[in-house]
Amino acid sequence: MTRIVADNPAHLASVAADHIVALLRDSPGDRVSLGLAGGSTPRATYELLRDANAPWEHVDAWLSDERWVPNDHEESNGRMARRALMDHVPATLLEIEYLERRLPQAGAQIYARNLEAIIGERPDVILLGMGDDGHTASLFPGTDALREEQADFVANFVPGRGWRLTATIPLLHRARHLVFLISGEGKAATIRQVMQGSDLPAARVSAGAEDVTWLLDEAAAAQLDTQ
Ligand code: 6PG
Repeated sequence: MTRIVADNPAHLASVAADHIVALLRDSPGDRVSLGLAGGSTPRATYELLRDANAPWEHVDAWLSDERWVPNDHEESNGRMARRALMDHVPATLLEIEYLERRLPQAGAQIYARNLEAIIGERPDVILLGMGDDGHTASLFPGTDALREEQADFVANFVPGRGWRLTATIPLLHRARHLVFLISGEGKAATIRQVMQGSDLPAARVSAGAEDVTWLLDEAAAAQLDTQ
């Protein structure tokens, strides 16, 4: 596990963009899959990636999680990723097919089937964020999706947030590279718990993965030992 601490959010975005480009360029095969994190933190990194010298024509991007909302909804992670990056580079983006009359479980099954064609047996690079409750993707503490041992992508009901679709722990653990991108003092206490080996979802995802990089800014790393 690698931990890199950037000075501030702008430096974090720059470090993250460089790290992601390096992973994309080093990936084997003629196509490379890239799982995109949602939320607000990655936006600055995605905007920097627009102009990065990455092999975008070989990149197949997908969403490590999504809110069960229309694709043009302001809460949609896919909408954020399109506006910040995917509409500006010649890579593909596999979005969730939201239909008002479709159950989220059906949406997750369809996505998992379509995703298989992109990631094959092993996803190449997956970006993840973390909430101050230790959730990552839409794997929230105490929710059913944390117990999924077979499917790669499932619908997950999150009290207070509604239905989400999320990559599961089995899928995330098959990634060649997991990159956590975390900013802000609000995450510092949770980062300390995760690094001390807690059972929070982000810690469980990190613990079983092959190659994990934690990209933090100083505020998020403030409660970690300096050595
Ligand atoms: C989502 C994300 C989620 C996010 C964290 C951190 O759908 O919200 O995928 O896992 O990464 O909640 O969000 P911020 O970057 O906004 O703090």
